Amino acid sequence: MDKIKITDDLEFSRIIHGHMRLSGWNISSQELLILTEQSIELGVTTIDHADIYGNYRCEKLFGEALKLDKNLRSKIQIVTKCGIQILSDQFPGRKLKHYDYSYDHILSSVDNSLRNLNTDYLDLLLLHRPAPFFDPEAVARVFSHLKSQGKVRYFGVSNFTPGQFEMLNSYTEERLVTNQVEISPYCLEHFENGNIDFFLKERIKPMAWSPLAWGKLLIPQDEKGHRIRRAIEAVAAELNVNPAEKIIYSWLLSHPVTLMPIIGSGKIERIKEAVEATNIKMNLEQWYKIYNASKGIDLP
Ligand SMILES: NC(=O)c1ccc[n+]([C@@H]2O[C@H](COP(=O)([O-])OP(=O)(O)OC[C@H]3O[C@@H](n4cnc5c(N)ncnc54)[C@H](OP(=O)(O)O)[C@@H]3O)[C@@H](O)[C@H]2O)c1
Repeated sequence: MDKIKITDDLEFSRIIHGHMRLSGWNISSQELLILTEQSIELGVTTIDHADIYGNYRCEKLFGEALKLDKNLRSKIQIVTKCGIQILSDQFPGRKLKHYDYSYDHILSSVDNSLRNLNTDYLDLLLLHRPAPFFDPEAVARVFSHLKSQGKVRYFGVSNFTPGQFEMLNSYTEERLVTNQVEISPYCLEHFENGNIDFFLKERIKPMAWSPLAWGKLLIPQDEKGHRIRRAIEAVAAELNVNPAEKIIYSWLLSHPVTLMPIIGSGKIERIKEAVEATNIKMNLEQWYKIYNASKGIDLP
């Protein structure tokens, strides 16, 4: 499977493994280690986390697996995020969900992530969501500090608009390297808010979260979901692809912006299907069949 060049010395796997649901997989550290090794064999070496996943438990669960094999860390790239302060029994003093991008919070969040993950560096740190209360100068200062300490190699954002991305970029010493956004045949928001054009202009390779739209494309829950599902199945039949889920990844992978889908499954067979989708060649009419089904209208 292709590697995607993020910077001169950082490559991500084309398919990324997301650990947001890890605490629900009910697997032991040993089983998680095996799942990770099997994923690496398939070429999936990049792993996406966030401090808050699983009520602050997922990073620690993965850290336990990492501890079992000292050689594993050098074979993978770890992405994690910071900034969202959820209501949690882990933080009983917190009374309101909010975002915190202060110097001190980002610093302590990274230290916690490093401790939880049993590693001494993160390959990429993302700011999880844009915030109405945001001091880019403080963020830029803490990024420089974390970089100089060797704790974080590169920085990026998630769910930012082009304007928010450029604003922060104008303060940071180094260029932000990616933006992780929701993209699937169900969620076309970033085709419409200028983000895809911005990524193309800036040569940014975006990470695509919830590529299966949280399952809404597997078990449709509304008319839009049914329309897309019918189009996916029609294209799967034309291309003789089974299961049809692979068509969803292929739709994302065929776009020239070079999306990196983040698969959220804990099952190796499903990770393998996502990897196999990198070999499917979809034509333009098939791509638009799915796009139009999502819009519910033909192109003007
Ligand atoms: N930056 C952000 O704001 C943000 C937000 C949300 C997510 N994310 C990232 O994106 C990752 C993926 O998100 P997601 O979990 O919502 O992704 P998703 O791929 O849209 O949904 C995954 C869910 O679909 C289920 N599923 C059923 N059939 C499947 C199949 N054939 N293949 C794959 N999954 C199947 C999985 O269950 P099984 O485990 O049973 O297969 C899992 O519960 C997360 O882990 C996280 O890293 C980022």
